[in-house]
Amino acid sequence: MTTCSSAPRKRLFIRTWGCQMNVYDSARMADVLAPLGYAPAEAPEGADMVILNTCHIREKATEKLFSELGRLREAKAARRAEGGKMVLAVAGCVAQAEGAEITARAPWVDIVLGPQTYHRLPEMVARASRAAGAVIETDFPAEDKFDHLPDAAAPQGPNAGVTAFLTVQEGCDKFCSFCVVPYTRGAEFSRPVAQVLAEARRLVAGGAREITLLGQNVNAYHGKGPEGRDWGLGRLLRALAEIPGLARLRYTTSHPRDVDDDLIAAHRDLPGLMPFLHLPVQSGSDKVLAAMNRGHTAEEFLRVVDRLRDARPDLALSSDFIVGHPGETAEDFAATLALVRRVGFAQAFSFKYSARPGTPAAGAPFQVREAEKDARLQALQALLRDQQDAFNRSRVGMTIPVLFTGPGRHPGQVAGRSPWLQPVHCSGPLSLTGAEAAVTVLAAHPNSLSGLLATGEAASNAQREEEPAPA
Ligand code: SAH
Ligand code: SF4
Ligand code: F3S
Repeated sequence: MTTCSSAPRKRLFIRTWGCQMNVYDSARMADVLAPLGYAPAEAPEGADMVILNTCHIREKATEKLFSELGRLREAKAARRAEGGKMVLAVAGCVAQAEGAEITARAPWVDIVLGPQTYHRLPEMVARASRAAGAVIETDFPAEDKFDHLPDAAAPQGPNAGVTAFLTVQEGCDKFCSFCVVPYTRGAEFSRPVAQVLAEARRLVAGGAREITLLGQNVNAYHGKGPEGRDWGLGRLLRALAEIPGLARLRYTTSHPRDVDDDLIAAHRDLPGLMPFLHLPVQSGSDKVLAAMNRGHTAEEFLRVVDRLRDARPDLALSSDFIVGHPGETAEDFAATLALVRRVGFAQAFSFKYSARPGTPAAGAPFQVREAEKDARLQALQALLRDQQDAFNRSRVGMTIPVLFTGPGRHPGQVAGRSPWLQPVHCSGPLSLTGAEAAVTVLAAHPNSLSGLLATGEAASNAQREEEPAPA
């Protein structure tokens, strides 16, 4: 990150909840504030600016914000007692949905900004230092934001540097019965192809070997191509795969309805498109899928899975599930378990339905009792756990390419990720960071693998793939 040498150094603390898109947004907010002299801080205490980047997807996520705001009120008072000032901003999806409630319940908040307005942060910070009340900015649309943001500089993602996130699409027009995203992120919007390719090249020049394209419905991507026509995600992936030094591509989150022929063909044709796909299905019951407004049946989902697996036989799948959507009976839930057994997931996220204000399902009749939701969640999670364990065990004995991202858990270890997004640990030099090398998997753990750097032919193959990224 570059900081203007003339500006005094100020400390910026950002806390991020929610999806990867929020992780990306937090990094971009840091980029926007860097020229004002803000550099990252490890803790909110003593910071000059604190941003809480929030998630509204389930009730629990929202509650976390208000308990954090309580703690920050004290930190802010302590800062004032020291003679300093802490600017407190609430960003993200709760800010968008509940801006007025935030300032009413927590009047010590200085700035409330929605996900499409953070390019205006410097101006808001200046206004907040002058204004008596809170500054609120919750406008749409996303076009403005991407046009006005500086080039991405701060590394994004959990293994910042080697792996990076790149938002290509935002918002959602699908209006699933249970979901707040269309209200918090606005209408679907795709960034133009040239902008995406330029950002990807910059990330690779900065050391990224793996890029994950992000979008609430990333495979609804329809960005303007250089020739003036819209490109789909398959075509975008093909263009990205040409970038020298970019070894791996992923995308998330995709919607079963938007998996088109070209995207399936991209999985067949592009070795660098990793064989792991997060494809949320939510339920295995056609009745519930219709009530959710998902726009596909269980059979249609299974057909998409079969076609993807035909195209890329080593493809592993992950998914999201909601139990206890209004109207879900024991029989509907049994259909979800049946779908899970039929597909066999490598990983999955499952949630109890949480009624969100303003969404159609929140006011629907036949809400499911909490105890019933708990029981269903437990049963589903037990099955998904078994499947994840079985998948991890199935890698034992295989020699697989691992992209190394940094130090492992113990001294002398390096950590990386498998093609199926499993963390992998093995003994080896830290100099492997940024390289892809072959590892023979020796043991499977609940959420990771461990192994040995392969020698002989496997290792020399790996060597050939280790050409450094161009600077
Ligand atoms: N665009 C993605 C989902 C984004 S939200 C898709 O359509 O699949 C991430 C996940 O949160 C969803 O897949 C869903 O499983 C869960 N979720 C969303 N709203 C929820 C709610 N009201 N209650 C419980 N889980 C919810
Ligand atoms: Fe929410 Fe549905 Fe849009 Fe996914 S597709 S973000 S679940 S409304
Ligand atoms: Fe949460 Fe907003 Fe992402 S509601 S899941 S942070 S799009």
